[in-house]
Amino acid sequence: MLRRLHSEQPESFAFTPANQAWAEHQIAKFPEGRQASAIIPILWRAQEQEGWLSRAAIEHVAAMLDLAYIRALEVATFYFMFQLQPVGSVAHVQVCGTTSCMICGAEDLIAVCKKKIAEFPHKVSEDGKFSWEEVECLGACSNAPMVQIGKDYYEDLTVERLAEIIDEFAEGKVPVPGPQNGRFASEPISGLTSLDLRESERQGHNASVHLAVTLSDTVKRIDGN
Ligand code: FES
Repeated sequence: MLRRLHSEQPESFAFTPANQAWAEHQIAKFPEGRQASAIIPILWRAQEQEGWLSRAAIEHVAAMLDLAYIRALEVATFYFMFQLQPVGSVAHVQVCGTTSCMICGAEDLIAVCKKKIAEFPHKVSEDGKFSWEEVECLGACSNAPMVQIGKDYYEDLTVERLAEIIDEFAEGKVPVPGPQNGRFASEPISGLTSLDLRESERQGHNASVHLAVTLSDTVKRIDGN
């Protein structure tokens, strides 16, 4: 896949004051002459703020690090985690299409995204709220098929449940992430065969879902405050 800058670019980029201070703090962690090592977290914060990396944002980060623009561009275009085109204002849906998820129905999930969001990946939906892409294994294969939305994983999906999740985001809700078929984590769906869960675990969410529900910042843009 070609990783090129988007055809339409904003005139300028600026970090919010809080993000600018955060970025300068990251740079200060590195020894003199090694400031360029801060490039990935600072590009990432620019993406967390805007949703994607514009040319102006990459130039801004290069200038902060006293780097040639081409070197910052090389990093931004190399890593697929960096979005080089605008994403949906509410959520960008990343569908795992690798083996376990593919066998368990990833292609059907992609069909949902094509129908509800846009026919092609990296295109923003007509209402501007959503975009989607297929990604490589996200490491949750035992809960296939799954998608990542914002910072969280939605696992054990069906086409119906993914469609509902997209609708809930569109209504301004944040659906509870994690397994969507009643599993606590990745234990056998037909019941435990050896170790048992503690009563407290049986009643609540697993640790990562608990954290996601507590923080409730799944698809929030990060302005540094
Ligand atoms: S194959 Fe989808 S998470 Fe690993």
